Amino acid sequence: MVFLSRVEQDDEVFDLSTQKIGSIESGSDKNDYTNVYGSHFATDHLPLHEMPEREMPREIASRMVTEELSLDANPRLNLASFVTTYMGYPHTAEIHNRCVNMIGRPFNCPTDAKGENAMGTSTVGSSEAIMLGTLAMKKRWQNRRKAENKDFSHPNIIMNSAVQVCWEKAARYFDVEEKYVYCSESRYVIDPKQAVDLVDENTIGICAIIGTTYTGEYEDVKAINDLLIQNGIDCPIHVDAASGGFVAPFTWPDLEWDFRLEKVVSINVSGHKYGLVYPGVGWVIWRSPQYLPQELLFNVNYPGVDQASFTLNFSKGASQVIGQYYQLIRLGKHGYRSIMINLTRIADYMAGELRKMGMILINQTKGRGLPLVAFRLPPKPDRLYDEFSLAHKLREYGWVVPAYTMAPHSNEMQLMRAVIREDFSMNLCDSLLQDIKMALLILEGMDQAMITNYKANIRSQRAHAQHQERTLPFYQKERHSLQGKSGKTYGFVTNYFKWAR
Ligand SMILES: Cc1ncc(COP(=O)(O)O)c(C=O)c1O
Repeated sequence: MVFLSRVEQDDEVFDLSTQKIGSIESGSDKNDYTNVYGSHFATDHLPLHEMPEREMPREIASRMVTEELSLDANPRLNLASFVTTYMGYPHTAEIHNRCVNMIGRPFNCPTDAKGENAMGTSTVGSSEAIMLGTLAMKKRWQNRRKAENKDFSHPNIIMNSAVQVCWEKAARYFDVEEKYVYCSESRYVIDPKQAVDLVDENTIGICAIIGTTYTGEYEDVKAINDLLIQNGIDCPIHVDAASGGFVAPFTWPDLEWDFRLEKVVSINVSGHKYGLVYPGVGWVIWRSPQYLPQELLFNVNYPGVDQASFTLNFSKGASQVIGQYYQLIRLGKHGYRSIMINLTRIADYMAGELRKMGMILINQTKGRGLPLVAFRLPPKPDRLYDEFSLAHKLREYGWVVPAYTMAPHSNEMQLMRAVIREDFSMNLCDSLLQDIKMALLILEGMDQAMITNYKANIRSQRAHAQHQERTLPFYQKERHSLQGKSGKTYGFVTNYFKWAR
């Protein structure tokens, strides 16, 4: 069970670390962490509202979180739930509150006592967070239309055609018309002017992405915000910061993309991407209760405490929320910043090396986008292989570096993308670059007969039961999604054999 948590305002936050203990001097050596209960962490208060500045040793963070959890009921003796539970809840709810506070604050949510009151909840991932954000925008728009005695049956939402598929789902599932700003051959982010021009009286909101799935670029949320203000348009912005929410605040802190912009009413982020938690956690934060209509919330008395709930699913594992808290206190701002900067440096190095090989780089570097490398092969009319064949060749060496077909109106551009994650060291990067060189050499050396043979082998692999497409026969050739309509792909798995057709 997950509850809506409030981001506490500045005047409610008491910094416990400033409180004097009023006892004998500490005997702990500042740098000796071998003894958990002899270290200074044992007498420090755990962070409740803000990520700590510095890291905490992993054994200590783990022990502190385990200690907290001992305050929960013994799961075996908990006969309140039907759910198989090894982790209880009353205290987990407190940890959830802390996470919402620690995630909302770096997004610059209002914490001034006179200002709005931000709130948020954990979700299964960004997809659920986006569903909730879409629902809130739709309900708020409907309420306004009803109050004005106007038709409220044709809501629409504006977004880039390079959105992740969850946006298509959110729109479809909740009966909201999708209005796309299309990419072009040279622009893969939303065009702010086109987006604002599409707004009409039925628009529930605009989605802006901080770290697009394909190229990792940050969309210009500020330009959209400013155009809306200049033109006196009352339209909210939801920022999809699934990947960038844990990157941009550390690598480009001056970029204004979050609640600093008045039109930004809600933001989602995946804890299981650059939040560095194992899969199954996302977060959505609203600027103020006015953007989250009350009729979407359910006050549930569970277990013994009245709490507001806004989720799609009632039961949910607590482990990822606890994992998120662990990472927030274990790494602190310094830890996240160091990791994100290292990833950016490795991505930039890889981009530079690929450029030397003649590749065309599509992503931004130096922290101006996500730490990933998106690239294309250099244009060469008589080349017999393409990005999908390089992806396939790299798979033979164990690498999963997918090839994609870009969003519609980008001339079916193909690209490859390597996401640089926490455990991708420079050493691995060098190995990948070596393998890319090798794969290119082999592909380059293949003549037409060899390529034909290679493709035949790939096709025969496809014929194997385990490698066949997973789409059920009744649902093949759908034409309602951007993939169905335009050939846009969300990964190379579906198009793995495209080249071999
Ligand atoms: C921009 C963007 N939004 C939303 C999502 C969906 O996130 P999740 O997998 O956490 O549901 C993704 C996933 O890759 C994404 O890149």
